[in-house]
Amino acid sequence: MRSVKSSVKKCATAGMRLAILIVLQALGLGACSTQEHAQPRFDEEITKQEKIYRSRGADVPGGYVTGRGLADYAELLPSGFCDALGRLRSSDQWLDIGAGEGQAILDYYAPEDNAAPAGNCARPRGQARAVAMSIEDRRTDKWQQQAASLGAEHIRYLSGKRLRQYSREELGKFQIITDVYGGFSYTEDLSLFLEKVLSFLDVGGGFYTMVQRVHLEDGKDKPSTWYQTELVDAAGRDVKVCSWLKKTTCVKVACESKSDWHTPTELINIRKVCSDVSVPPMKLLKYEAGNPPGRRFQLEP
Ligand SMILES: C[S@@+](CC[C@H](N)C(=O)[O-])C[C@H]1O[C@@H](n2cnc3c(N)ncnc32)[C@H](O)[C@@H]1O
Repeated sequence: MRSVKSSVKKCATAGMRLAILIVLQALGLGACSTQEHAQPRFDEEITKQEKIYRSRGADVPGGYVTGRGLADYAELLPSGFCDALGRLRSSDQWLDIGAGEGQAILDYYAPEDNAAPAGNCARPRGQARAVAMSIEDRRTDKWQQQAASLGAEHIRYLSGKRLRQYSREELGKFQIITDVYGGFSYTEDLSLFLEKVLSFLDVGGGFYTMVQRVHLEDGKDKPSTWYQTELVDAAGRDVKVCSWLKKTTCVKVACESKSDWHTPTELINIRKVCSDVSVPPMKLLKYEAGNPPGRRFQLEP
């Protein structure tokens, strides 16, 4: 990210560069373009966001929920999620990005005689290997106990890094990737995030996610809606998150708009159908720390 300060400094010797500038402008190549001056700084907001990730005990903000279980995932993810989870075999892998305490994975592995509520995600469960990923380590005693009894070949918890910092060699390939109020809702680089998700997804596999307070695919969001994640095109016109996703190559995107929920939410299923994936790039225009943060992205022309 380029800062305003460095752009100003760069332009400070304008007198000296005037002659060059005139020539550049005549060629249509302004040296200190408006865009360069307009690049906002997000460092302060990113620092605030880090504080939320690191928060513990009473300092955790009310809206930062980290303990949703499988029943919550069944409600918050698109309709095909539970069936897809039930079809996984022992050689398959499930990655939960932004897993928090990893409760959904614990419920997936709950023993037969344990009546852990799992909503529509009925049995069979606990077939596949599951990986929980979180920036901060939110493992509970329950996780430690279950992990010790199941062994690392069944459940793994990864923390200390963001999704984009992992390689395919470290993680392998996944048949299902989920994200419930995880990286998809929190990242400051949505294009790169999706690119990474799809690089970890097997051809034929599915990414199940959701995002709240966006322009909905079915257009039924109320005019009074306050949007938390906004996408605009090069001319500044609103773009629906699903329209942007559908421009990605080698995927089939299905969106379920929930305009009647307390916050208008898009449930998203992305199936990878071939390996030559290309995600339309976007740049960040606004980032305001929160649960989730407020973000505005602009599609690159
Ligand atoms: C609000 S919690 C949600 C936890 C859980 N999914 C739930 O619903 O209870 C957000 C989680 O997303 C994680 N997260 C945010 N951005 C991420 C990224 N880029 N890569 C990996 N994890 C991320 C946070 O570390 C945290 O575990």
